[in-house]
Amino acid sequence: MQLELHDIQGTVLRNRPMPYFGSYVLFSIEDAEAARTLIARLAPQVTTAADWESPRENAWINIVFTWEGLRRIGIPEEILAGFPVEFKMGMAARNKILGDTGSSDPAYWDMPHGHNGFHVGLLVMAGNEQLKEEKLRIGHEAIEELRGITLLARLDVGVPPNLREHFGYTDGLSRPFIEGQGGEPLPGQGEPVKAGEFILGYENELGRIATGPGPETFWKNGTYISIRKIKQDVMSFRKFLAAQSDNADGRERVAAKMMGRWRSGCPLALSPEKDNPSLVADPLRNNDFSYYDNDVSGKITPLGCHIRRVNPRDGLKDGIVDARLHRLLRRGAAYGPMLPESAAEDDGFERGIVIAFINANPGRQFEFVQSQWVNDGDFISEGSRTDPIVGRRDIADDFAYPDKPVRKRIKGLPDFTATRGGEHTFLPGINALKWIVSQGWLQHK
Ligand code: HEM
Repeated sequence: MQLELHDIQGTVLRNRPMPYFGSYVLFSIEDAEAARTLIARLAPQVTTAADWESPRENAWINIVFTWEGLRRIGIPEEILAGFPVEFKMGMAARNKILGDTGSSDPAYWDMPHGHNGFHVGLLVMAGNEQLKEEKLRIGHEAIEELRGITLLARLDVGVPPNLREHFGYTDGLSRPFIEGQGGEPLPGQGEPVKAGEFILGYENELGRIATGPGPETFWKNGTYISIRKIKQDVMSFRKFLAAQSDNADGRERVAAKMMGRWRSGCPLALSPEKDNPSLVADPLRNNDFSYYDNDVSGKITPLGCHIRRVNPRDGLKDGIVDARLHRLLRRGAAYGPMLPESAAEDDGFERGIVIAFINANPGRQFEFVQSQWVNDGDFISEGSRTDPIVGRRDIADDFAYPDKPVRKRIKGLPDFTATRGGEHTFLPGINALKWIVSQGWLQHK
């Protein structure tokens, strides 16, 4: 099976440069004609997945739309009505299901999120600041003298050279291997995941072709990106760890049990008792583990830790949930300045992570993982207990894991995170962008 790489926007398959510099640029559409002009100007600049393994250029632009954006650009109602309910409603309206309540309520989200205010977005990624600025210039030139398109916000994101996110963990190590992407899976990637889990137009894990509404040109090789902007309270995380032990080893052990990896990125599964940072740089080793054969009960990698919740791998094999139906392709990056290690108190700057979850079925994939695995513990027989890193705390605030000599239970986990924005977006294929511009829907009608 071959993926139509020339028709797929690059971010679906391309690994980002590391370190990496990115921007989310968000626009609102007031005039359909202006929006089509914008897309017509940008479409030739959109980077495809064609040379994803060894990109010719270390920078790229991709385009996404919200449902409201597609409506405003003039896509007919009959097509719009056929989209999945999650995409149609928008993420803010799904807040109760997703656990975005209390301090994560959409009322507190950063503009323009949460008000259906954002309609079309550019995702710009580059290997250095200068390349990023060049790509951003293309975006700015494209809207120049266009009336009826408003630039609402630009959020700069990135991954520093040490690949650490704000809490100090190495990120970006595990990702699914997609059938047809080319090459061989790395150890630990498991069975290739059917392409229809991540791209429309291909067979999915249910044995069906993942499709979309309207004519095939509109949805083929497109997908959904569920975007989350999550604020991280780094000082509260550090103070929490400090309170867990009077020595650095003890603190790092708690941090590792919460994540399922030492902060270096070394998996607990491969090095249960002490960190082994030397294996992290080796892609043949840093993700080479599963749970079923020697840790089904979570003695080494706790059942409730972050990575085991969000991707239980083979650990639920004997249960009723089929983990293959809930895979996510992630692109996470930090916003805001890093809090210096030496800081005694918070510096007042807002900081966090923006995660783009690529999935062909946002209800069965992102929303399921967020609501059932991050914000509930039933699937691992832990009642309503939630994810120790990013779970909501209003229903449960403790974390427990097997330890020696006795099981450890930490009560009163602080709220380390708060949602600050969220959008279900559609990332059309390249032909679909042309179709949108050419008003292909008129012929369709
Ligand atoms: C503040 C928020 C978050 C932080 C700091 C964070 C951090 C991390 C880190 C450090 C890893 C391990 C590195 C790796 O496996 O590549 C990871 C893995 C992962 N995270 Fe998160 N994450 C956050 C939120 C989320 C959310 C909300 C979800 C899903 C709803 C999620 C889904 C995943 C998945 C699917 C993996 C891969 C696990 C695996 O394949 O073993 N993360 N995250």
